[in-house]
Amino acid sequence: MVPLPLVQSSNQLIPSTLPPYLIAVFVGATSGIGEATLKQFAKHTVQPRAYFLGQSQDAGDRIAAECKALNPNGEYVFVKADVSLIRVVDEVCEGIKAKEKAINILFLSAGLPITDRRETSEHLHLLSALIFYSRLRFTTNFLPLLRPAPSLRRVITVAGGTH
Ligand SMILES: NC(=O)c1ccc[n+]([C@@H]2O[C@H](COP(=O)([O-])OP(=O)(O)OC[C@H]3O[C@@H](n4cnc5c(N)ncnc54)[C@H](OP(=O)(O)O)[C@@H]3O)[C@@H](O)[C@H]2O)c1
Repeated sequence: MVPLPLVQSSNQLIPSTLPPYLIAVFVGATSGIGEATLKQFAKHTVQPRAYFLGQSQDAGDRIAAECKALNPNGEYVFVKADVSLIRVVDEVCEGIKAKEKAINILFLSAGLPITDRRETSEHLHLLSALIFYSRLRFTTNFLPLLRPAPSLRRVITVAGGTH
């Protein structure tokens, strides 16, 4: 595992080494790893724009305000969506694609406790839908915007702790 001080000193370099106006999409950022990473993105980047997804409107409103306090020059757009449904993933992607020409970072961390055995209305195992099918759909849908992104182009998927 990378030591935390190394991560922190690397983050300090972001404003001087990465260009301004980075655009990111965080899927599953109303709590946990997604929320923490979104806030580091907001804190260290110059005039960023972030779309962040989850199901809790209250958490979305709170986090948008907290990001604005961290970096008032950024734009933070909460999208309320159940991304376990592939149909919904496609709708969300179309909405973002209508507004953006490029995406620098796609950060995927939506998930559930491993003991959850429910099935979605599309007849997928809910946990597999969230950590596999939905994430691949976001990635393939956004490839046309990730490929032309200037400088940074990353898809990050968080599944196992420290991996
Ligand atoms: N934290 C750890 O130690 C750890 C260890 C091993 C693996 N993981 C995995 O790493 C990932 C992130 O963990 P975490 O600790 O950040 O989890 P978390 O705090 O529970 O966050 C999960 C996020 O996923 C969102 N989400 C869940 N179902 C959703 C749905 N149907 N539609 C849209 N958003 C949905 C939640 O938003 P809403 O609540 O608003 O729906 C929340 O923002 C998960 O896949 C988890 O299984 C974490």
